Formats: sequence, C-alpha cells, structure tokens
Amino acid sequence: MTELEAVRARRSIRKYSDEKMPEDKVLLLEGKLRELNGASGLHMQLVLDHPETFRHFLAHYGGFRQARDYIALVGKTEDGLEEKCGYYGEQFVLFAQTLGLGTCWIGGTFSKRKTVFSVEEGEKLCLILSVGIPDEEGHVHRSRTFEEVTKTKDEIPEWFRNGVEAALLAPTAINQQKFTFVLEKPDKVRIVMGKGPFIRVDEGILRCHFEIGAGKENFVWIG
Ligand SMILES: Cc1cc2nc3c(=O)[nH]c(=O)nc-3n(C[C@H](O)[C@H](O)[C@H](O)COP(=O)(O)O)c2cc1C
Repeated sequence: MTELEAVRARRSIRKYSDEKMPEDKVLLLEGKLRELNGASGLHMQLVLDHPETFRHFLAHYGGFRQARDYIALVGKTEDGLEEKCGYYGEQFVLFAQTLGLGTCWIGGTFSKRKTVFSVEEGEKLCLILSVGIPDEEGHVHRSRTFEEVTKTKDEIPEWFRNGVEAALLAPTAINQQKFTFVLEKPDKVRIVMGKGPFIRVDEGILRCHFEIGAGKENFVWIG
C-alpha cells in the first residue's frame, strides 16, 4: 500500500480486537517511531497494554472499545510543538494503515491519571493516538467541498487539486475542517487555519496530507 492509498483507506478506528498486537508489528511500529523522532526531535512513545488510559468517562461515549495500545505525542515545550505532532504523528498513522492497523487521534477523551510514558523536564504531552487491530471499518467523514476550502485566481493545476483532495480526507478534531488552501502564485501554497480545538495539530496533519497528494516537488509552502 502506498502512502496515497493509505490516505484514501484511513478512517478513525475506535473499536479494536482483543488480540494482542503481534510482535513483528510492534517492531515495525517502534522502528518507524525512531525514524520519526530522529527527523523531528519529538519524543513520541509507543505504550502497549494500557487500557486504563482509555477509561475516561467520555471515551466510552465516544465509542472506544478494547483500546489499549497508543502513541504518546510528547515533545519540547516550544512554539510549533502541536503542528509538529500533527505532521509527524500523521506519518505514523499512515504507516500503521499500511500494516493493516487502525488509529484514532485523541485530544480529550483519555485519562491522564496513570501515565506510563515519560515526559522529561521541558517537555509536554500534546495528545495521544490509539493504535491496534481494527474491529470495525470506521466511517467516511462528512466533508466540505474543494470549492469551500480553496482560494485560487489562476488556472488550477492538477497537483493542487490532488493535494486538497488528500487534505479533505485528513482527520481533524471534531471533524472541524477549518482550513483554506490558497494558491498564491503558480507554485506557492498558503494554508489559512480557522479557530478551534487542536487547530495547530490539524494544521500539521493537513500539511502532511497535502504534500502526499500534491507531491512535494510541485510546490513550496508560504508561511
Ligand atoms: C487533533 C485531533 C483530536 C481528536 N480528538 C478526538 C477525541 O478526543 N476523541 C475522539 O473520539 N476522536 C477524536 N478525533 C478524531 C476525529 O473526531 C476524526 O478524525 C474526525 O471526526 C474525522 O473522522 P475520520 O478520522 O474517521 O476521517 C480527533 C482528531 C484530531 C485530528
């Protein structure tokens, strides 16, 4: 499965099988985390067998079942941390998808009472990402249209359309999709975010999806 196929296949998974994560997949996930931590400077950690984290009164309401494995998105407390978590965390999501695993970003509905990952001095936990063997297919989210989320003057290049289409498939907090992609010059793109919970995490996720859809070689970001 390519990254673009993973973008198309992904949806949030909240119901997981009671099977343990197979050892070969654990090794692959840990390898990917090492690579992403190396590239980003983040301190993302894989936590296995910790269902307590999902015992938040809203987790059940939100539909979580048998979740017990997750990634803690931890990094240095600095400007841009949330966007970085979104950008690199989503690369992890898409990698997990290629392994046939399901994921869900979780900003609020988890318990911070008994944490088993480490947060060093000068670091903080942004949010978590459940991961596991899916026990549901998930739903295709309701989506805004290309016209609603773009601003263009010139002719619209194919890569821009592909990038926006990949972004419209991205997860956003409460499916808010509060973004506009602006095509400023033939190959320059700006992303303008609205206001909402975890909006900077959404921004990082959207940049990741847009780059995969559009092809990084076709454009440069402004801002
Ligand atoms: C930053 C962020 C935080 C999220 N927090 C939660 C959460 O606390 N609980 C939950 O059930 N889903 C959460 N989600 C999942 C979104 O509700 C989901 O991505 C959105 O509804 C779109 O659906 P999809 O991912 O299936 O395409 C979060 C997603 C993002 C990107």
